[in-house]
Amino acid sequence: MNDTTLGCLFDPQLQQEIREKFYYLDADSHGRKRLFFENSGGSLRLKAAVEAKAKYEQIPDCPERYHDISMGLRAVKEKGIQDIMEVIFGAKPGQGALVTELTASQVMFQITRTILENVPGTNVVTTSIEHPSAHDAAQIFAQRHGKEFRVAMANPKTGGVDVEEILRHIDKDTCLLSVMSASNISGNILPMEEIVREARKIKPDLYIISDAVQHMPHAVLNVDELGLDGMNFAPYKAFGIRGCGYGYVSDRVAKMPHDKLGAKPEKEWELGTFPHPNFAAMSAIVDYVCWIGGYFTDSPDRRTQYVEGMTHIHLQERALLWRMMEGTEAVPGLRHIPGVQVFLDNPSVENRDLISAVGIEGMDFTFLREEYYRRGVTVFERVNTSLYSKRIVESLGLTGAIRVSPLHCHTVEEIDRFLVITAEIAKEFAK
Ligand SMILES: Cc1ncc(COP(=O)(O)O)c(C=O)c1O
Repeated sequence: MNDTTLGCLFDPQLQQEIREKFYYLDADSHGRKRLFFENSGGSLRLKAAVEAKAKYEQIPDCPERYHDISMGLRAVKEKGIQDIMEVIFGAKPGQGALVTELTASQVMFQITRTILENVPGTNVVTTSIEHPSAHDAAQIFAQRHGKEFRVAMANPKTGGVDVEEILRHIDKDTCLLSVMSASNISGNILPMEEIVREARKIKPDLYIISDAVQHMPHAVLNVDELGLDGMNFAPYKAFGIRGCGYGYVSDRVAKMPHDKLGAKPEKEWELGTFPHPNFAAMSAIVDYVCWIGGYFTDSPDRRTQYVEGMTHIHLQERALLWRMMEGTEAVPGLRHIPGVQVFLDNPSVENRDLISAVGIEGMDFTFLREEYYRRGVTVFERVNTSLYSKRIVESLGLTGAIRVSPLHCHTVEEIDRFLVITAEIAKEFAK
């Protein structure tokens, strides 16, 4: 591969085919032209995922029966589970267990609770930039089990958390480290490999889990290589559907006493009948990423195709991020528009997902979001008056920011349109 420091765009033919696979890419559900740059709050939907779910919701048969229809549904479910565990999470066949709930937050609570109920130790470590589902789960169950709750603070310059800051909080009595894979405010990708390696130098059998809700739609996950004990994601932020959150737990967590039917095997986390229509949607998402991967590899292996596909999605997004930051001579990027503030702006785009936190000097964030909407751009403000964002934005040294989150199916022309609109707003309102 050539130098990809600044990313690499899809070729135009592939880009066009990709665009046709999404609903409402150019216009909203009322037919109004718009740029949907709020994918971190729920991403553009892949037609195939929605259609797959709808197709299987029509069939009443229980997948736990033995006639041909039921067996077919069970095969859909089994394929979906394999796709999630081995292709998306990167687990080995048979490794760990799948956790599923209605939301990724519930998954995170379930994993955190199980670890803290079972692992001895006197403290729990997390970071100040976690989503409340990871932060509060660690805090609540630490308190419930009489453990000290420790929080590694953010680095406002990068929008991430420095490895040394995390390590400073870990000791031989730490029973859990919970660190997100990428920030949902700055897009900063945390160096999980280094974090895991260095943390286990302090405590070799440390339990480590990671919230990948933000990172999963933008990059490859690898629970096996990283040696993680838990990870989660939300399909509605990953081109998919609402109504489910998925998690991986390692073998040693899977075997811990947890909520399950007594007669089921030790590693079983399925409680009730996992819905096969959701798994059909997940396989459609994996098919899509593998289809992109097929442009870059001849391998018949699904994980290899997925890794290639996701890697190129990431490179496309990196190129879009660079364009958004730097622009061109004709259309200046965010860093160069007078009156525009780019927060948490790591100069390199290499360790970032396609998210930027911005503002306009002297302009209220809610008003700015409304002004963008009036001009056909959907973005969202993460501010310190929101229960979801207060701790995070304040730990990053901000009162808030507009979060701009396009997706790989967007083009440089759309990024330029966003830049032109931003420049117009800044010209009119910056103080
Ligand atoms: C980083 C991160 N983790 C977890 C969640 C929670 O996901 P869910 O809405 O599925 O509970 C979100 C949602 O915004 C998120 O951004």
